Amino acid sequence: MRTKVAIIGAGPAGLLLGRLLENAGIETVVLERRSADYVLGRIRAGVLEQGTVELLDKAGVGERLHADGLVHDGVEFCFDGDRHRFDFRALIGRTVTVYGQTEVTRDLMQAREFSGATTIYEAENVSLHGFDGDQPRVRYVKDGIEHELSCDFIAGCDGYHGVARASLPEEAIRTFERVYPFGWLGILVDRPPVADELIYAHHERGFALCSMRSHTRSRYYVQVPADEKVEGWSDDRFWDELRRRLGGETAERLVTGPSIEKSIAPLRSFVAEPLRFGRLFLAGDAAHIVPPTGAKGLNLAASDVGALAEALVEFYAERSTAGIDGYSARVLSRIWKAERFSWWMTSILHTFPDTDSFSRRIQRAEFDYIRGSRAAARSIAENYTGLPF
Ligand code: APR
Ligand code: PHB
Repeated sequence: MRTKVAIIGAGPAGLLLGRLLENAGIETVVLERRSADYVLGRIRAGVLEQGTVELLDKAGVGERLHADGLVHDGVEFCFDGDRHRFDFRALIGRTVTVYGQTEVTRDLMQAREFSGATTIYEAENVSLHGFDGDQPRVRYVKDGIEHELSCDFIAGCDGYHGVARASLPEEAIRTFERVYPFGWLGILVDRPPVADELIYAHHERGFALCSMRSHTRSRYYVQVPADEKVEGWSDDRFWDELRRRLGGETAERLVTGPSIEKSIAPLRSFVAEPLRFGRLFLAGDAAHIVPPTGAKGLNLAASDVGALAEALVEFYAERSTAGIDGYSARVLSRIWKAERFSWWMTSILHTFPDTDSFSRRIQRAEFDYIRGSRAAARSIAENYTGLPF
């Protein structure tokens, strides 16, 4: 089999790249090791930057997003009970849209299926070959039969644990990592959200986040130790802890109910450099990981593949390699700024087990500064709603 661009991974990055390329008349094949249902079963954040919404519109998958997505003008930080709302629209005239990643993936899957483009789910033993030359190939096993896909380019959109980055010689890549000494215990519940916008809360017992998927489905998180087990958390224990960290009228307003999903996610910052190796490109979680505090994961995946699609369209349309030669430097500049913001939000809002009294005062000073300075608030607003793609 042959195609122009072989895409490894049918998550948001792989599917959005496929949509953008197919819309430009560039044939792709997506190879995904899991089933479509498994991919859709992942519970992931869904705060979309304005640039991501515009890219999804460009990909032709924005209809449900605009119908069901919740446009938020701001977000609240609560620091030891002191609350401050950052009004993005007033500060910089931009917004975010709350729309679950699962729904983004579903919209992209349905668009790809309707277009007739080839997606091979449950592709096993995917391996990459020849990407350091001009005839890359991807091998895989489907239903026990070995296949080889010849292509012009390979896009590694296969996430942090994928095969693409792992296929590179050790000396070809540098990685940068920070593993945080805590995780997020999250639950999904079919109850109305506690507030109209997201609430990020710092408390001496730990961080908490109030989010949502719709007006009737909410998503809550509490910070837990890195080695915590979800089996130790009944719903009642979760709700009690969340109330203690939110405090005041927010805790009183909380509408609790039985969790329909409960899990613990680790937090890490990670970047691989560079992101282009001959005919192989890395994008999305295959290239970087951010702590979810800044809600940047999906948005970075979108900006990566937006840039990669532009570069590949330029190559096929003009036989120019300027875009693909500049891909890595272009996306890494934006990636590191999002990594900085995600690290900064994580650093001021969480409690660190080995911290000292000076560090706790610095966290408080950060909050007091951003809530007291319009310049600082505008910086929060422009980073949270997304720096230019
Ligand atoms: N072969 C084929 N597919 C693979 C392989 C492999 N060896 N390894 C992983 N995959 C698939 C995974 O099953 C997954 O469906 O690649 C896909 C990668 O998708 P994501 O992990 O969702 O990564 P990405 O598309 O970059 O989206 C980033 O997802 O993890 C969140 O917070 C992150 O919101 C961000 C978004
Ligand atoms: C979520 O709704 O799951 C969510 C929202 C914002 C974040 C992280 C997660 O920063």
